Amino acid sequence: MKFFSFAVAALATFASFASAAPLPIETGLEARGQAVSSTALKVPTTQEFINQHLIKAPRKNKSLFWTGQQAATDARRLRSVALDLAAKQGFDIVGEMLSDDALRLINGPKAPINKLSAAAANKFVEEASGAFAELSTGDVTIMMEGDPTTGPQPEAGSVFARIERPILEERAAHGTQAITGAFRIATNFKTTGVKVPFKL
Ligand SMILES: *[C@@H]1O[C@H](CO)[C@@H](O)[C@H](O)[C@H]1NC(C)=O
Repeated sequence: MKFFSFAVAALATFASFASAAPLPIETGLEARGQAVSSTALKVPTTQEFINQHLIKAPRKNKSLFWTGQQAATDARRLRSVALDLAAKQGFDIVGEMLSDDALRLINGPKAPINKLSAAAANKFVEEASGAFAELSTGDVTIMMEGDPTTGPQPEAGSVFARIERPILEERAAHGTQAITGAFRIATNFKTTGVKVPFKL
């Protein structure tokens, strides 16, 4: 149950606007027993997200990632801050990069994702997040709560730590050096403007 709530919170980071319909938790639970129905959504892989244009590339230097320091971090709260930063400071965030086709899979009470198991829904988030990291170029920005210099590191089990960070690290280290730098900001970046180099 706890795991499922976490998956829903993670999925909530994908809706384009704060006013978008919240994911229907009750419907999702009812639908879980039907997860094996023949119309079940097959979760696209990271490569399929990219190849099938389910996600657009963020602009160079504009990718914004956000993550918690512990599993219990309220992803919805960070999401609203990220949406605001994207709108006012010109960052690109994963939910904003998803195509209409991808959004149709996850938005609304009848969305195919509600038929998935919690684990499969989580997988959807992870694959899309991986694609966002794969498509990021230039300097990337990571928003976390706490002081950007002294604050705790990302929670080890987070999508950022497990999925996005290794991809960014790889893209920074080898070959074309598609990622040129990483910076950490706090949730109050809009007022402080403080960004601190972040070791991937
Ligand atoms: C990206 O940022 C780098 C500085 O790290 C800058 O040299 C470059 O011009 C920027 N590119 C774009 C497209 O903004």
